[in-house]
Amino acid sequence: MKNLTSQDLRQLFLKFFEEKGHKIIPSASLVPENDPSVLFTTAGMHPLVPYLLGEKHPAGTRLTDVQKCVRTGDIDEVGDASHCTFFEMLGNWSLGDYFKEEMIAFSFEFLTSEKYLGIPVEKLAVSVFEGDNDAPRDELSASCWQKAGIPKDRIFYLPKKNNWWIAGNTGPCGPDTEMFIDRGTPKCSENCSPACDCGKYLEIWNDVFMEYERHADGTYTKLKQKNVDTGMGLERTLSILNGVPTVYDTDVFEGAKQEIERLTGKKYGESEDVTKAFRIILDHVRTATFMLGDPKGVKPSNVDQGYVLRRLIRRAVRYGKQIGLESGSLSLIATKYIEKYQDVYSELVENKQVIIDELNKEEEKFSKTLVDGLKEFNKVITYLKGDVFPGKTAFRLFDTFGFPIEITTELALEKGFVVDKQGYDDAYKAHQEKSHAGSEQKFKGGLAESNETTQRLHTATHLLNSALKIVLNNPNVNQRGSNITVERLRFDFSFDRKLTPEELKQVEDLVNEAISKNIEVKMEEMPIEQAKAQGAVGVFDNKYGSVVKVYTIEGYSKEICGGPHAKTTGELKQFKIVKEEASSAGVRRIKAIIIDK
Ligand code: SER
Repeated sequence: MKNLTSQDLRQLFLKFFEEKGHKIIPSASLVPENDPSVLFTTAGMHPLVPYLLGEKHPAGTRLTDVQKCVRTGDIDEVGDASHCTFFEMLGNWSLGDYFKEEMIAFSFEFLTSEKYLGIPVEKLAVSVFEGDNDAPRDELSASCWQKAGIPKDRIFYLPKKNNWWIAGNTGPCGPDTEMFIDRGTPKCSENCSPACDCGKYLEIWNDVFMEYERHADGTYTKLKQKNVDTGMGLERTLSILNGVPTVYDTDVFEGAKQEIERLTGKKYGESEDVTKAFRIILDHVRTATFMLGDPKGVKPSNVDQGYVLRRLIRRAVRYGKQIGLESGSLSLIATKYIEKYQDVYSELVENKQVIIDELNKEEEKFSKTLVDGLKEFNKVITYLKGDVFPGKTAFRLFDTFGFPIEITTELALEKGFVVDKQGYDDAYKAHQEKSHAGSEQKFKGGLAESNETTQRLHTATHLLNSALKIVLNNPNVNQRGSNITVERLRFDFSFDRKLTPEELKQVEDLVNEAISKNIEVKMEEMPIEQAKAQGAVGVFDNKYGSVVKVYTIEGYSKEICGGPHAKTTGELKQFKIVKEEASSAGVRRIKAIIIDK
C-alpha cells in the first residue's frame, strides 16, 4: 500500500472521480442549511438530501467532494484510539445517474489500481446487504464484486444493522456495500466477519445505494431515482493505508501535536494519561477551529451549536491543565491547524483572527473558574455518602464555575459517583424559571457577585454570627470581618481563645437546626434607630445610609445587612465548619461551607 499524506488522498480521490465525469463541489458549512433537526453536518450526504430526493443539482448528476463533518454523540469517547468529533468525508454522488455496477467498478479500481491506492486485492474484503422484508438480498452487488476479482469467501452478507445507511430516522436511504482491509490476523471465531469488532477487518469505504425513502411510520417507499452516496473517512482511511496505529498518528495532527509538546514539555505517548489528554486536546481544538472558522461562524454559547463548541473548548482546557498547558495555548494549537488546512479550507485563514480571539476569550474565562470549581468538586465528594453526586451541586458547578454538566459527570465517574441528572435538570429548570431568562442563560465565566451560592453563604454567615453569641454566651463576641467566596464563608469575630470541638459542634448544630426548620429570611427596610431598638446586630456606620435593610430569621437572627440572601434557610441544606483558627490577637476565624445533601 502507498504511503500517503492527507492532501495526497484528497487529491487522488477527487481527481479519480473528476476523470469519471464528476464535478468537484466545495464542502458545505458545518451548520446544516434549513435543517433544525440536527446541529451539525454529520455526513457527506447531509447537504445533498434535496438532490437525492429528486431536485436538480446545478453541477449535474455526478458529483464529488470532501465534506467537513462533526459528530458529537461520542465526545466522551474521544481520547481513545479511534474517536474524533471532526472528520473529513471523501464522497462521490450519482444523482439518478449510474448505480451498482458502475460504482463497484469505480471502487475496485480506486482501491486496487497502482495509479490510485494500490491496495493488493488479497487484502480486501467486502460486505453486502443480506436482505429482509424491506429490501431484497443484494445479489447484484455481490456478483459485481466477484466479477471484479474479490473471491466469494471474502464477500459477507450482513443485516440491516450493518449494511444499511440512513441519516437519522427518515429520509433517503438504502442498502450499502462496505469495503475493508483485512489486517491478516487470525479469525476470531468460525463466524468472524467484518461485523465483529475483533479488529481483523478495518472499514475504509462505504457505497450506499439509495433508492428508498424511510417515512416516520417506519415504512419504505422507492425514491424517484436511484442514487449512489459513498463515504470514505479521510483520517481513518489514511491511518489504515499508512499502517499507523491511530488517526492521531496521521499528518493532519502532526503540527498541532508538536505544538502541544513544545508548550508542555510532555511527549505524546509517554504515558496513557498524557496520550489521552493530547488526543482530547488535539481533537477538540481542531473541531473548535473548524466551528469558529466556518462560514456560518459558530460562537461559544449556552445553546445549540454554541453549547457543543463551549463544551469542547472547556473539556480541552480541563485536560490541558492536566498536562501543564497554560491559558492562551489553545489558540496557538489552532494556529497550527489553520496552517495545516490553509490550502483546503480558506475560510480558516479568512477567519483566523476570530478563531484566535474566541478561543482565547473562552479559555481565559473558564481557566479562571476551573481551579476553584475543581477544588469545590473535590471538597464536595469528601462529604458524600453513597455513590450519587447531587444534581443541585452539579448545577452549582455549572452556574458558578461554568462546568458543563458533561464535565461534572465525567469527573464524578472518575471518582466513582454518578451524577443525579434529574436533580440537575430540575435545578436548571428552577433556575431558568427564577431568572425568567431561558433563552439568555449565560455561563458565569467569573465569580459572579451575587449568585445563588454566595447568597446562601451570606445567610449562613448570619446564622453563624448568632449561634456563636449563643453558644459562647459572651456579649463581646462580635463580627470583626466577613469574606465570602463561592466556595466558603470566612467569619472573623472577637473572642480570645480557641473554641473546643464541643463548642464548634454546638455552633454547627444550631445553624443546622435553623436550616432544618426552613425559616423564611425576611427583609425590611427601616431607619437605623428602629433597627437598633429591635436589637438588630450589624455594623452601625453610615455605610447603608439612614435607612437600613434588616434581615430577620425568626428565632435565630436579626441583622443589618446589604444582602442579598437566600429566601429560606432550607436553601442552605447543610452547614459545616471546616476550620477554626486565630486571625489576630483577640480575633478568631471560622471557615465554613454549605453542602448540598
Ligand atoms: N452516508 C454514508 C456514510 O456516511 C456514505 O457517505 O457513511
